[in-house]
Amino acid sequence: MSLEGKEIVLGVSGGIACYKSLEIVRRIKEGGGNVSVVMTKAAMEFVTPLSFQTLSERVVATSLFSLREESKIGHIKIGENADAMVIAPATANIIGKAANGIADDYLSTIHLACDAPLIIAPAMNHKMWEHTAVQKNIENLKSRGAVIVPPESGFLACGTHATGRMAEPETIIRELHRVIHAGKTDAASDQYPLSGIHVLITAGPTREKIDAVRYITNYSSGKMGYAIAEICRKKGAKVTLVSGPTTIAPPENINLVKVDSADEMYEAVMANADKANLIIKAAAVGDYRVTRPKKQKIKKKEHLELKLAKTKDILKDLGRSKRADQFLVGFAAESQNVENFARKKYKEKNLDLMVANNILEEDAGFGANTNRVLLIDKNGTRELPLLSKTEVAGQLIEAVLSHDRWNEIYSKI
Ligand SMILES: Cc1cc2nc3c(=O)[nH]c(=O)nc-3n(C[C@H](O)[C@H](O)[C@H](O)COP(=O)(O)O)c2cc1C
Repeated sequence: MSLEGKEIVLGVSGGIACYKSLEIVRRIKEGGGNVSVVMTKAAMEFVTPLSFQTLSERVVATSLFSLREESKIGHIKIGENADAMVIAPATANIIGKAANGIADDYLSTIHLACDAPLIIAPAMNHKMWEHTAVQKNIENLKSRGAVIVPPESGFLACGTHATGRMAEPETIIRELHRVIHAGKTDAASDQYPLSGIHVLITAGPTREKIDAVRYITNYSSGKMGYAIAEICRKKGAKVTLVSGPTTIAPPENINLVKVDSADEMYEAVMANADKANLIIKAAAVGDYRVTRPKKQKIKKKEHLELKLAKTKDILKDLGRSKRADQFLVGFAAESQNVENFARKKYKEKNLDLMVANNILEEDAGFGANTNRVLLIDKNGTRELPLLSKTEVAGQLIEAVLSHDRWNEIYSKI
């Protein structure tokens, strides 16, 4: 399998093993990939940027405050189109910064601005590697989905024979292949079956303005959509989450687009739908908007009549324009006759999978931490038991991954 056309960001931090990363660049290029190298100040003490520049055939990013490198906000741009980010060697320092969200130089800043799957190849003295602080940071990064290529044991630069040596470039390249082609190779398929896949998710309610202080909304909390976003990210996807107003902390390393009204949600979804292969619409979009919201606060009076107009049907338009390489999942919140109404919606909106729930049921639907849903598709209806929303999100993604239409799409991406 090649890396043809893949965009890789290679972060190089300051350790003796820096020279080995030249070989990583060479192998990525040999595999047909493009590589943008980012070096820390300490890394430049070990190997010159010129060596990486010559092999990568690209300018090496070194200084966050360089007029040239930052002329186009390079620290954001460089990671934007990345299929994977590799940090090799990763010092104890960059591991600590990455685990704790510190962004005080080019590499640590790009790490936060890049939502591609992350591969880290630590290299350090064995006592540093075994230190609780370093191990805690490693666990933290792992829990966020980073792939750690463990250091190997051998003769270290400090003169001892122990574990701390950076894995061989060949091993790191193998991991890179696995992450990029996850699902198509055996070992990583279980962990990162959505690696490199763009997933667009919507969540939360929408708000329709009545006047300067009032609005119409619904009881959606956004918990379901956020749980789906988290699972997709952990499975290696590049996630764009279009969210109405919620109080939930968003998952890390995703592209969060905040919106307010149904119209804004429509625009944001359509702007991001093109690049997505999997679209999951979990938001509770308002069906009506106030035709003429007032700029000022409406004075209290005995009767107030509001004229409402239908909002645009996002799911219907997505279904209408669905490409052969797109899989569309919708949610139906019903209060009666759930399966029939949901199946009708499933057909009308050209969906691949419908998740339906009865919002009047106890412990399910809006606001609750749990949900009881039906999964409806062309093959039939499957009822899931009462589960946490995270578990429902997990089952939903499993249902997508085992769906014959998804597998057909995935085999061609
Ligand atoms: C000769 C030498 C070798 C070093 N090797 C390593 C190493 O392998 N791993 C590591 O974590 N730090 C190593 N360090 C220390 C780092 O360079 C130092 O912590 C630095 O602040 C890391 O900065 P950076 O993470 O921004 O590259 C070494 C320092 C020196 C002088």
